[in-house]
Amino acid sequence: MAKIGLVGFGGIGIEAAKALVLDSTFTCDIVAFDRPDALSQVPGPQVGAYEEILDTIGILQSGHTIQLTSQVKDLAGCDAIIFTAGLPRRADQTRADLIGVNVPIVGDLAKQIGDVAGGAFVVMVTNPLDAMVELAFRNLNLPETHVIGQAGVLDTGRFNIQAALAADKPASQVDCIVMGGHGPEMVPIYSTAKIAYKPLTDIVPADKLATITKEVRDRGRTIIQRQGRSATFSTAIAAIRMVKAYINDTREVMACCTRLNGEYGYSGIYGGVPTEISRAGAKAVEIPLTPSEKEAFDVSMKATKTMIDELDQFFARS
Ligand code: 2OP
Repeated sequence: MAKIGLVGFGGIGIEAAKALVLDSTFTCDIVAFDRPDALSQVPGPQVGAYEEILDTIGILQSGHTIQLTSQVKDLAGCDAIIFTAGLPRRADQTRADLIGVNVPIVGDLAKQIGDVAGGAFVVMVTNPLDAMVELAFRNLNLPETHVIGQAGVLDTGRFNIQAALAADKPASQVDCIVMGGHGPEMVPIYSTAKIAYKPLTDIVPADKLATITKEVRDRGRTIIQRQGRSATFSTAIAAIRMVKAYINDTREVMACCTRLNGEYGYSGIYGGVPTEISRAGAKAVEIPLTPSEKEAFDVSMKATKTMIDELDQFFARS
């Protein structure tokens, strides 16, 4: 049975555990990890959520198990890890503003996890995603095929649903992708976007397409403004899709933050690109882009590069 680690049992980790337990097609052992002070905080969200999830396993009489722990060694033998530890952003922050806060948390934990969970497939979720996945990769000591970032599946989901709403069609007929970094420069790709095999651009007028782009790019912030905290349920489901593709060896292609080896003209840097996920891990896939899409992708990659430079400066200072 697959063993799934949830590193960070806050908003996203708790939603991920709930979603895993509800999935009768994917029985797994869940290891929910968080800091000792978070777990000893009673009343507090973690212990209560853990107990409710435990009871739900009892209600469903399923084969899932869940362990709540603050010991990194309990993550040993994990097939996959969803890493959400770190602070989420507030409405007045950009994702990039979190770099200074989350670097020490992510760097230190990634090092400890790499020591016990060699062989795991790690999906990073902590923001700023494109820098945190690079930081985790440097510290986990895992192959680049096994360290990827979740952002594109969420952003693509947001693109799919906005396109579906604009065209008055169900999301099941929509096939879109968002590329680039998980920031305001992310790039919804219109040249390949289809609804029921027809180009989205033939169905939805240009002014509505511009609104879709804005909605997709702003969605993370508007959700924080509306519910007072960043997206947890949708983010968890996106990360689980990636983990299940790995465990079940589905070879699905989805938008992931993947280390590039020449694809799209980049090497040695993570970028949000179509990625095949199989039991061998993640592999970037190249698709044709129009010149303006490639230009927009380059602008987004430039923003990622700026964050990586900031990461390097952070270490140079410390
Ligand atoms: C978002 O875009 C949490 O970064 C995440 O909602």
